[in-house]
Amino acid sequence: MTGAADFVRVQSSSPKSDAERRDILAAPGFGRHFTDHMVSIDYTAGKGWHDAQVLPYGNIELDPAAMVLHYGQAIFEGLKAYRQPGGEISSFRVEANAERFAASARRLAMPELPSQMFIDSITELIDVDLDWVPAAGGEDALYLRPFMFSTEAGLGVRPADEYRYLLIASPAGAYFPRGVKPVSVWLSTEYVRAAPGGTGAAKFAGNYAASLLAQAQAADEGCDQVVWLDAIERTYVEEMGGMNLFFVFGSGPDARLVTPSLSGSLLPGITRNSLLALAADSGFAVEERKISTDEWRTKCKSGEITEVFACGTAAVITPVGRVKSAEGEFTIADGEPGEVTMALRDTLTGIQRGTFADTHGWMTKL
Ligand code: PLP
Ligand code: COI
Repeated sequence: MTGAADFVRVQSSSPKSDAERRDILAAPGFGRHFTDHMVSIDYTAGKGWHDAQVLPYGNIELDPAAMVLHYGQAIFEGLKAYRQPGGEISSFRVEANAERFAASARRLAMPELPSQMFIDSITELIDVDLDWVPAAGGEDALYLRPFMFSTEAGLGVRPADEYRYLLIASPAGAYFPRGVKPVSVWLSTEYVRAAPGGTGAAKFAGNYAASLLAQAQAADEGCDQVVWLDAIERTYVEEMGGMNLFFVFGSGPDARLVTPSLSGSLLPGITRNSLLALAADSGFAVEERKISTDEWRTKCKSGEITEVFACGTAAVITPVGRVKSAEGEFTIADGEPGEVTMALRDTLTGIQRGTFADTHGWMTKL
């Protein structure tokens, strides 16, 4: 198997009833409910990818010596399928997710899943779990979670020879329970997420494990999210727990957008990349550069920075309202969602939901 896979399909014998599914779709939350099926593809060194299957969603069996449980080779992706006004289902920039999945695999010395197989796995799952895609016209979508981990049993430290790729799907509403209300952030100087030369640019499970203690610290400080700074100087802003950051300077048609440059230790977000293009389309100047916590604080206080927002597949665009660090705290403008933030949010979600023209060709019908 090298490209288009032949998927064997095993239908679930106990899918959720229409009534149960309707109840879930009425208030899906984020990542709490899963569809009736999943995709599984195995990899063996020397043989390649094999045994592509659509299976009933359910438990998997692993040898206790499976290398992922000891040495952590595990990567994932996150993207959404959106129901369009005409009823069909489309995904947003699925090729970009396939490419980033392959880049993450290379960094973790794992085999690359061919892009076409990644896309086919999504088409197959949507085909069988179509009814799980939330209705058009709202904020909800079907969140797709492709992931891969080493399955070979053994305790020698080396790249494994056997892996499994799985794709699961979860109807999803807003990532933050309060919706598009501004979040508060804690600037982490004690802990770092990723260092130069490390795994920060990969969607690697260990990056998220490394973030949890700092996230707990943020919560103890009364903040919703942690903001990561660079590992060396602990000065330059990198990103948030599962989102990239944008800073809006000025207002109206003269507004400028700044986002931290891809340092090698932050995740190259697909939403970030898309917003750079959409902001430029709207006539805003856009800049990818280093931005320090001092610049953030002083230019918020002087009124030069007017808005800050986080962006990502799960979080879409979420305004940042308040910033706290060991040195004190400040609010961004009046702490409410800004005009540029909400205009970009409308454009992005309009493209994803089929109500705005897809001028960049980002949507793929599944
Ligand atoms: N940064 C991190 C650490 C993430 O986990 C995510 C989410 O995927 C992002 C940024 C945003 O990436 P994307 O826009 O591709 O979802
Ligand atoms: C996403 O936005 O897809 C993420 O992966 C963020 C988070 C849920 C880990």
